Amino acid sequence: MMSSKNGSSLCRLGVVVTLAGVISMSIMFSMFKPSQKCPLPPPKPKLNSVKNCTNSNNVAKSSNSVKSNSVTEKAEEKPIVLLWVWPENYRFDFSDCKTFYNIDNCHLTDDRALYNDADNVIVYHRNIQWDLSDLPPSPRPPFQRWIWLHLESPTNTKRITGLENLFNLTLSYRQDADIPVRMRLMTRKKPNEDFVIPKKDKLVCWIVSNNDPLTGVDTRNVFYREFSKYIQVTLFGKAYARFLDYNDYYPTMASCKFYLAFENSVHKDYITEKINGPLAAGTVPVVLGPPRRNYENFVPAESFIHVNDFPDAKSLAEYLLHLDKDEDAYRKYFNWRKHLTPSPHLILQTQEFILAICTACDHVARHREYKEAHDLYDWYFS
Ligand SMILES: *[C@@H]1O[C@H](CO)[C@@H](O)[C@H](O)[C@H]1NC(C)=O
Repeated sequence: MMSSKNGSSLCRLGVVVTLAGVISMSIMFSMFKPSQKCPLPPPKPKLNSVKNCTNSNNVAKSSNSVKSNSVTEKAEEKPIVLLWVWPENYRFDFSDCKTFYNIDNCHLTDDRALYNDADNVIVYHRNIQWDLSDLPPSPRPPFQRWIWLHLESPTNTKRITGLENLFNLTLSYRQDADIPVRMRLMTRKKPNEDFVIPKKDKLVCWIVSNNDPLTGVDTRNVFYREFSKYIQVTLFGKAYARFLDYNDYYPTMASCKFYLAFENSVHKDYITEKINGPLAAGTVPVVLGPPRRNYENFVPAESFIHVNDFPDAKSLAEYLLHLDKDEDAYRKYFNWRKHLTPSPHLILQTQEFILAICTACDHVARHREYKEAHDLYDWYFS
């Protein structure tokens, strides 16, 4: 995802994960030093504050208000997750975690008055100042874990000194983050035999919001310039002054045979919602990003076309033109739909961080163990 300053049109699509994705996140790998075997952190003092947070925008509030004002055992068990700042100032209602992902096992809040009780504090990287002002106060309560939230690729990451050994958990698109954030396809219980490919009236489409050369888009632009000599591409988005209304996003995508899912920069695991859109809409993604094998960790090999499958842009264009004529060959790109179901992701700009924050909520409710994240940048930029 590129960030706000560069593109505010619909193409700044928030990432979303399916519920299955959230569940599968319980399997994690970490490149950090293994968690030290420490005694459990000191127990947290009993809270009487849960019912006092009526002015905070939080999930627990609604569930508590249903059960009058009493703090039930159950409510007390929910870890408090304090969102220190709103990423890019995109506010949302914390109850969205329940609405979109059926997640409500933590108590999300943005009320800094709860800092001393917060089990987890989410800190958004792009909002951290170079002088580290406006980080949560230190020393932190002994039981409290700080979560580093960052969804941009290394190309678009400020290396702010002083954060290397500050956090406990990382929340990122990287698969080896403590809390990986990603859309996933859900496995079907019963095969679906009746998927119908949506009607197509365009060959190749591309929605581009960000075209800032500083964000690494050069690779994809060079490829595109060559590619578009051989095949017609319908362009949308802010970068091309053809703004697409949010409501038209999925229908427009569905009406294209192919969609250019070109990442802004090429990094391991940096495979964003750009591929999820076409998969969800019933369109074949043509991807540019990390190697094919990396994509295949997340989506079926036969669900997409990789630009590196071809020696050059011209051969890719020729292959797409061939598929345009060969209905049966084209149809094969949808066979995976028998066994897997995609989910549309949230596409409003203000929804960009909902998935990540809800995923963190679910994770910390299930994993309460001691953890330190060291050498943040050695890991992130490696
Ligand atoms: C969180 O990480 C910090 C920095 O490494 C560490 O001092 C602290 O003990 C950790 N706390 C928990 C509860 O994991």
